[in-house]
Amino acid sequence: MIKRDNQLKLLSPVRSGPITFSNRIIMAPLTRSRADNPALAPTELHAEHYRQRASAGLIISEGTNVSPKAAGYIHVPGLWSKEQIAGWQLVTERVHAEAGCIFTQLWHVGRISHPDFHDGALPHAPSALNPGRPIRTVQSGRTKTVTPHAMSLSEIQATVDDFKRAGDHAMEAAFDGVEIHSSNGYLFHQFFSTSSNIREDRYGGYIENRTRLLFEVIEALKQVMPEERIGLRLNPMMHDDGNIEVNADTLPTFDHIVERLNDYQLSYLHLTRPMRPFKNAYTIHDVIGHYRQIYRGLLVANGNYQPEEAEQELQSGRADAIAFGRPFISNPDLVNRIKNHWPLAEPDNSTFYTQGAEGYTDYPEYDPDN
Ligand SMILES: Cc1cc2nc3c(=O)[nH]c(=O)nc-3n(C[C@H](O)[C@H](O)[C@H](O)COP(=O)(O)O)c2cc1C
Repeated sequence: MIKRDNQLKLLSPVRSGPITFSNRIIMAPLTRSRADNPALAPTELHAEHYRQRASAGLIISEGTNVSPKAAGYIHVPGLWSKEQIAGWQLVTERVHAEAGCIFTQLWHVGRISHPDFHDGALPHAPSALNPGRPIRTVQSGRTKTVTPHAMSLSEIQATVDDFKRAGDHAMEAAFDGVEIHSSNGYLFHQFFSTSSNIREDRYGGYIENRTRLLFEVIEALKQVMPEERIGLRLNPMMHDDGNIEVNADTLPTFDHIVERLNDYQLSYLHLTRPMRPFKNAYTIHDVIGHYRQIYRGLLVANGNYQPEEAEQELQSGRADAIAFGRPFISNPDLVNRIKNHWPLAEPDNSTFYTQGAEGYTDYPEYDPDN
């Protein structure tokens, strides 16, 4: 049995710059809407949630807003104020006490927001195009996105500065690193895509322009932390009706980004593969295999992995680590379950975005005697 366990590559350590992840089972970023306090700060409840999951080789925190302007979901914590830094310090202390490693995911939702989050002002986005998406706010309940404000050059610069400040605060809060949330249809992805970015200045049009913001943010973060502590997330083939489309520009854009990432010594590139069967002439399905050929650094794969397939991905060399999202919601001891070949518990999606401990810190560890 022990021999079999030792052969699991998922359980082997992996080096990333100055850090060694103790295994290759990574906790994917998971928004859980538990920061229901006026400061939008993490609390003891967050600290306990992450402590329970500290056996992951790396925890990537829930998406964390870099500024008030970055917000588009209720009760999401931030990283711009002293109270928020103090709240995150609770979390990192608790994870480090268990010998865990934790990055924070730096988030800006762009146009997936609503004026209710901004005292009536419009959300910021590359262009004034309404994605027409459903959205929930405290004031209006279920409502719809609006036509956002196309960011001026000085607003883009202020956003770069917000990421830099949040990175600085992440170091102050003793995070081991940060992940730039440049996936899933949010601000960076909106800049990348010709379906959401019709700008005619140096942030629109050519690929170099549509991807400029991302590289400016990497450069800004490098001023406050070593680049080996910066990870980055992409979801190249995500199709999000009305927001992001997969079109003729998609593949060349992401190929360009990933090729350029080779110029840096980043901690990792985190890729999500398509989650739904969506198909058009421009979709490539094997996102992981495609970018494995291009990217020369540490590759983290995500998207509907069960332990068995995850292990195969590592054994075949297609990925260096696997990020699990939903399995980590309901299995705080996911690493131990994989190690012992114990069954996984299913998450209850009715408590994904509720408040309090239920469905958050009350998933039990596996008990082999019960
Ligand atoms: C409840 C929930 C919250 C999520 N929040 C985030 C988030 O804050 N940032 C992010 O990049 N992805 C987020 N995701 C996506 C997950 O990180 C992951 O990509 C997705 O769940 C697929 O992985 P899985 O099949 O292992 O769950 C979220 C997913 C779920 C289910």
